[in-house]
Amino acid sequence: MKTLNVGLVGYGFMGKAHSNAFAQVNHFFNLEHQVKLKSVCGRTKEKAETFAKSWGYESTETDWRELIKRTDIDIIDICTPNDSHAEIAEAAAKAGKMILCEKPLALNGAQGMEMVKTVEKAGVPNMVWYNYRRIPAVTFAKQLIDEGRLGRIFHYRAKFLQDWTINPDLPQGGAALWRLDVGAAGSGVTGDLLAHCIDTALWLNGDMKNVTAITETFVKERMHNLTGKVEKVGIDDACSFLSVFDNGSLGNFESTRYARGHKALYTFEINGENASISWDLHDLHRLQWFDHNDQGNLRGWRSIHVTDSDHPYMKQWWVPGLSIGYEHSFIHQVADFIQGVETGKPAYPTFRDAQRTQRVCDAVLTSGKDHQWHNVAKD
Ligand SMILES: NC(=O)c1ccc[n+]([C@@H]2O[C@H](COP(=O)([O-])OP(=O)(O)OC[C@H]3O[C@@H](n4cnc5c(N)ncnc54)[C@H](O)[C@@H]3O)[C@@H](O)[C@H]2O)c1
Repeated sequence: MKTLNVGLVGYGFMGKAHSNAFAQVNHFFNLEHQVKLKSVCGRTKEKAETFAKSWGYESTETDWRELIKRTDIDIIDICTPNDSHAEIAEAAAKAGKMILCEKPLALNGAQGMEMVKTVEKAGVPNMVWYNYRRIPAVTFAKQLIDEGRLGRIFHYRAKFLQDWTINPDLPQGGAALWRLDVGAAGSGVTGDLLAHCIDTALWLNGDMKNVTAITETFVKERMHNLTGKVEKVGIDDACSFLSVFDNGSLGNFESTRYARGHKALYTFEINGENASISWDLHDLHRLQWFDHNDQGNLRGWRSIHVTDSDHPYMKQWWVPGLSIGYEHSFIHQVADFIQGVETGKPAYPTFRDAQRTQRVCDAVLTSGKDHQWHNVAKD
C-alpha cells in the first residue's frame, strides 16, 4: 500500500479533529493510500511531544518551516489561527506539498487570491476544511437539490449562533482567544461562523450577486493577552446580512456570539417551488423535508433520519438507524481528498472554491461599515 505522510501544524481543537480523521480514515474507507501521522508541529516542544505521543505521531517539529523542508512529508495540514494560513500554505505549495488548510482560507479576498494563484501555479492538490458539507444529511440535501426536486429556489436562510463572548471581562488574543483579536482572526463571526454558512450556501444554491449587512461590536474594548493592555476590539461580534443569489433567490444570514443559550446552533432552510429542506447541527442526522407533490391530505414535514446505507457516506459506518457525529465529517473529508488524489478529480472545496466564500465575507464586512449593497467580486 502507498503511504501519504501527514505533517500537522497546530495541535489545538482542529489539530485533534484532523488527527482523529487521519487515524480513522483507513479503517472505514477503501483507499489505495495509507495515511501516516508522520510529524506534528507546535511552538512548544514539550506540548508537541505530549500531543505526538497521545495521537501516535512519529516525530515533532517546533518550526513549520522545518516541517515543510522535510522530504518525508507529503501533506501539510494547517490548523493554526487565520493570520498564518497564507504564509504556511504558500511555503508548502512552493515545496511541492499537498495542502489541507483550515477555514477561512485567508484574512481577506486579496490574500486568498494570492494563495489560490500559488497553489495552482505549483499544481499541488489542495483543499479547505469546510467540513459541514460532509455531514451526511447536508450532503443528502445537495443530492436532492441537484436532482431538481425543489424546483426553482426562492429563499435560503441560515444562522450560526453562539453565546461565549458576552462577558466583557473576557480578554482578547493569544491561545484560544485569538478569535477575538482582529489581527489574528481577520474578522469576527463573519469569517469564523458565517463563512461556514456561506460555504454551504454557495455549494447548495450557487454564487451570490450582492449583499447588504449590519455588523455590531457589543464590547468595544478588551484586555489583550499578548500586550497586557486594554485595546479596541476590531472584530464583528454579530452580523446579519441579506443577499441575492445568481439564481434569483434571496438569502438571509445571521450570526452572533451573543445569543444566550446557543452554543453552536447552525441551521439552514431552503424553500423551493416544489419542496423545502431544513437542517439543524444540533440534530445533525435529521433532514427535514416538505414535498408539495405528496398526496394533499398526507402532506407535512418529514423528518428523515439520514442513517441508511443508501444515504451519503453511511454505508461505510454501522447498521441503519445508528448515528455518527461531528468528527465523522472530517473523516469523510480526508477520504474524499485522498480519493481525489487517487483519481485525479480534485475534492472540493479547493482553495479556489473557498475563495468564493472569502469574497462574500469581504462584501459583507464592507457593507457592515456603510450599510449599502455591495457586489460580490468574482475572481
Ligand atoms: N472546520 C471547522 O469547523 C473549524 C472549527 C474550529 C476552528 N477552525 C479553524 O481552524 C483553525 C485553528 O482553530 P482552532 O480552533 O483549532 O484553534 P486553537 O487555538 O484551538 O489551535 C490553534 C493551534 O495553533 C497553534 N499555533 C499558533 N501559531 C502557530 C505557529 N506559528 N506554529 C505552530 N503552531 C501554531 C497553537 O499553539 C494551537 O495549538 C482556524 O483557522 C479556525 O478558523 C475550523
